[in-house]
Amino acid sequence: MRHLLSTKDLSRDAAIRLLDVAEDMSDVATREVKKLPTLRGKTVVNLFFEDSTRTRISFEAAAKRLSADVINFSAKGSSVSKGESLKDTAQTLAEIGADGVVIRHPASGAPAVLASSGWIDAGIINAGDGTHEHPTQALLDAFTIRRRLHGSASRGKSLDGVRVAIVGDILHSRVARSNLWLLNTLGAEVTFVSPPTLVPADVSGWPATFGFDLDAAIDTQPDVVMMLRIQAERMSAAFFPNSREYSRAWGLTDARFDRLGPVSIVMHPGPMNRGLEISSAAADSARSTVREQVANGVSVRMAALYLLLSGDRENA
Ligand code: CP
Repeated sequence: MRHLLSTKDLSRDAAIRLLDVAEDMSDVATREVKKLPTLRGKTVVNLFFEDSTRTRISFEAAAKRLSADVINFSAKGSSVSKGESLKDTAQTLAEIGADGVVIRHPASGAPAVLASSGWIDAGIINAGDGTHEHPTQALLDAFTIRRRLHGSASRGKSLDGVRVAIVGDILHSRVARSNLWLLNTLGAEVTFVSPPTLVPADVSGWPATFGFDLDAAIDTQPDVVMMLRIQAERMSAAFFPNSREYSRAWGLTDARFDRLGPVSIVMHPGPMNRGLEISSAAADSARSTVREQVANGVSVRMAALYLLLSGDRENA
């Protein structure tokens, strides 16, 4: 694997292999081995043009647990704020000697531009680009679902027949798109549930069903209910008129959570708007995987960095 830009590009075998390597990385963690020497001498740059808590911190933890050197770059406080281009930023990183670049950018397609530009010869990982994709989020979500379903017997398993309802702001969600492609590749059945105003204009070819009634979706007792963050910063009042109205119609309220079956799991990629798209009772319940998702993110990102930057790059 040369770069990780999209889950749409991942074959079923490549996706399962990445999840299996993440299982191995997780085993290392539970054996309380603090670090692996695998990426000693490599440099990973976290290149973040948008805010992040989970993704940036877990990539940093993952790289350090593999003994890589880590450089954290935030657009705020850098020469980007003086107008420096992505090309000049990338060429600066190339001169410093980056082997891997983890990039988050507000423009959809920026990681692909970096990967194909020739400005820098490094493995590129997309850590979220505009409304396009967030592949490592989808991989950690799939890892978390597989773990909940199969426990310690997860290796080699797909998600065949698992029914996943993804609820909320699909229009602005790169998490929804990456999950759609990956879950479909792994054999899961995806249903999107959202207000009509928050469905993208062109969903032809998307391997999912669409619904507008969350109560009806809850009645089908999906295996997984994945709540999406309302991305208020990316929408106008025309899309999002009223918080209380949204919560009543589209939120995982206490009442809806109580109606979910005993084995249904509740997911959220974070950051959560508690009381808006998800109630605190649902978010903090034993059926919530929110904290597991964060923990599993380190294992999945260790696997991605290992597959891109170790000697296994071409065969992964
Ligand atoms: N899920 C996610 O991408 O969170 P951050 O924005 O905090 O990285």
